[in-house]
Amino acid sequence: MDKLLLIDDEADVRYSFERIFGQKDGLELRTAGSGEEALELVPRLKPDLVIMDVRMGGLTGIETLQRLREFDSKTPVILMTAFGTTQTAIQAMKHGAYDYILKPFDVPKLEELVAKALAVARSMKQVVSYEPLLEEEDYDLGIIGKSVPMQEVFKTIGQLASSDATALITGESGTGKELVARAIYSHSQRSEYPYLAINCAAIPENLLESELFGHEKGAFTGATSQRIGKFEQCDEGTIFLDEIGDMALSTQTKILRVLQNGTFERVGGNRSVKADVRLIAATNKPLEEVVSTGDFREDLFYRLNVVRIELPALRERREDIPQLVSYFLSQNSLNPKAPKTIQADALDRLQAHDWPGNVRELENAVRRALVMAKGESIVLDNLPPDIFSQSSTSKPDADGDDLVGLSAKLFRWARNNPELKVIPAVERELVINALKETGGNQVQAAKLLGITRATLRKRIEKFSIQQELSVG
Ligand SMILES: Nc1ncnc2c1ncn2[C@@H]1O[C@H](COP(=O)(O)OP(=O)(O)OP(=O)(O)O)[C@@H](O)[C@H]1O
Ligand SMILES: [Mg+2]
Repeated sequence: MDKLLLIDDEADVRYSFERIFGQKDGLELRTAGSGEEALELVPRLKPDLVIMDVRMGGLTGIETLQRLREFDSKTPVILMTAFGTTQTAIQAMKHGAYDYILKPFDVPKLEELVAKALAVARSMKQVVSYEPLLEEEDYDLGIIGKSVPMQEVFKTIGQLASSDATALITGESGTGKELVARAIYSHSQRSEYPYLAINCAAIPENLLESELFGHEKGAFTGATSQRIGKFEQCDEGTIFLDEIGDMALSTQTKILRVLQNGTFERVGGNRSVKADVRLIAATNKPLEEVVSTGDFREDLFYRLNVVRIELPALRERREDIPQLVSYFLSQNSLNPKAPKTIQADALDRLQAHDWPGNVRELENAVRRALVMAKGESIVLDNLPPDIFSQSSTSKPDADGDDLVGLSAKLFRWARNNPELKVIPAVERELVINALKETGGNQVQAAKLLGITRATLRKRIEKFSIQQELSVG
């Protein structure tokens, strides 16, 4: 249950909040008519999100915010302000408010902002543990992994906990980069301060710089007022720059400077602003290559690469799959009747799969199986079709270097290149190879391929292979 506290001295506003949020599932709304009342309430209530008016009789919004922050520097606070008082709102952002919204507010926008802020609050609160999971600590999110490469990852997270060093997390999509970033944060000395995650790939290039560093009024068309960026807002906290490999060069330059001397300028400004922020970065791009093509600054790369956490692909640590599966089964709290176990042959199949989408794909496969399952246990045909249809007699090895692994690879290739018809394309290659191998002897080539000579001839004709062989 998320707890939302509204502080406003106007009864009308409290009433509309009751109407909007009073009946929402999973949300408990409390209201206070003044800053003083709220400050008394907060230690007992421990709200997940506070929304308050800037202008109130008695303690103002800003004063209330400052007092709140002395007691708790993490809980997001959204300020409400009427037109014309945006300067105050900017002050509020500097004091670490999460966001502000103008009155009279647009209801869908307010709802969206509340949902977003609650998600941020949750992500700060949920400690990510990398030690064996203790059942009673359901607040903890676990990073599962007993394999040697994961143990190395945990060691590094532990070493990072006592320092403020920048960390670079790399690894394929779905390997748990975001989870590791949050684990570093929740075990760090800054865990009582905010954590803000920014996905560099999701924000248009020209807006990212202003999102991170803020801008001055008139800095560009549309910059109608000053804006405080994440670095300023997150003072003493931790910023997670996800997909940093997609960041524009000009923004990289600014990031480098913050890392080197802890200062930056707002876009369109010339006054330098101080930032005490710990940076964690992640990317699924091979950053060394992006450096070599000139799309990522080499000096920034070296600065970030001081502590590197390279997350292994799931297929490189198949021994962790059983534990991951039982973890995902135990996490399923939505349906108490859902199976808690999986049959051995189904688990074998999961362990044999190549998992190009890594842990995320495994998690989704387990979720899907839970929906499909009818009995007490997940069985083979509850698995997603591409996993289920693998032959059970031969497991692909780590490289996927047998028929099953090869077909899986081909299938992925076909999916990514739908314009190339996979079966004719593969057939053609096989025929060419067989003919080359046998020096053009059609009888032997047909035998190698397990087809009749007549079929082989038809293929040669269909794919115009004679030409190719005589040329090549
Ligand atoms: N070791 C793990 N133990 C438990 N859950 C994990 C583990 N690794 C990843 N997950 C889960 O898998 C999903 C994907 O993880 P995450 O978002 O951290 O991946 P990512 O590396 O950031 O992927 P992308 O590059 O696509 O952003 C999440 O739901 C996460 O909780
Ligand atoms: Mg991610």
